[in-house]
Amino acid sequence: MSQFQEKTQIIRIERLTTDIIRLTLESSRIVSTAKPGQFVMIRTGNGKDPLLRRPFSISQIANGKYFQILFKVVGRGTALLAHCREGESLSVLGPLGSGFRIHSNGPNCLVGGGMGIAPLLFLGKTMARQCSAPPLVVLGARNREELAPLVDDFAELGLSVHPATDDGSFGHHGLVTDVLKNLGLGDDCMTYVCGPHLMMTAVHLFCKDRGYGCQVSMETAMACGMGACLGCIVPLEEGGYGHACSDGPVFDAKELLWEVK
Ligand SMILES: Cc1cc2nc3c(=O)[nH]c(=O)nc-3n(C[C@H](O)[C@H](O)[C@H](O)COP(=O)(O)OP(=O)(O)OC[C@H]3O[C@@H](n4cnc5c(N)ncnc54)[C@H](O)[C@@H]3O)c2cc1C
Ligand code: FES
Repeated sequence: MSQFQEKTQIIRIERLTTDIIRLTLESSRIVSTAKPGQFVMIRTGNGKDPLLRRPFSISQIANGKYFQILFKVVGRGTALLAHCREGESLSVLGPLGSGFRIHSNGPNCLVGGGMGIAPLLFLGKTMARQCSAPPLVVLGARNREELAPLVDDFAELGLSVHPATDDGSFGHHGLVTDVLKNLGLGDDCMTYVCGPHLMMTAVHLFCKDRGYGCQVSMETAMACGMGACLGCIVPLEEGGYGHACSDGPVFDAKELLWEVK
């Protein structure tokens, strides 16, 4: 485990909204090996409270030594993280898990909801460099306040973004699947999805119906993050369970057992 663990310094803290925060951390080792879709486990307190590290997607890398995480304050661990200061160091384990498998010849479409948008930024930047055509990006959130700063990040990469909000305050008023239906995706499209479980289920069903490929990132609760407990199991279509932390978090949606078929 020790080769994955290190103290990383917080270089920059940006508050995008009252409860959505971006941290820039320094680690040449993590940056040199990280793939889009992978995550890190961060100790958010003194190691006793909370006892367990918390998982966060690597949302961007830059300049060979900086990586970013983007998180929302939802409980004790993220609240502690929100109170960190620039210059402090965090104990970070990673990069962990499998990443997205990029289809270099596209067409590709990234679909993110809420904080599930975080890993898609790193993926979008990588695709903009590697793929024959840039991906389409469909992003959903509750309202303009939560979505607009994230849309700006993708737009800065030169990607075409289609926003949707629950309250209609930014982009389409409604679901990301409404937007997908109107995009006219190519026959051999691959979608890359991360967000709330209900949203991922809906996108999986949409893709299954049309014969599109679909990769989903499963953000289950996690304890160890390394395949050593059963904290993160997800049911598989073929029977049995997979570990979201080590077999995933990215799975081919067809490999998973979904509640709705
Ligand atoms: C692989 C992976 C990548 C992730 N990437 C990000 C990210 O980039 N940005 C981000 O903001 N969050 C991300 N998460 C979720 C993040 O880990 C949780 O929000 C965090 O652990 C909550 O810790 P806490 O102590 O603040 O909240 P807790 O006190 O542990 O929980 C507070 C509330 O949040 C709910 N909760 C906890 N974990 C999750 C989860 N995984 N999904 C949905 N609800 C949860 C709990 O049920 C509870 O209601 C990721 C999770 C995984 C597994
Ligand atoms: S979190 Fe322990 S096995 Fe996945």
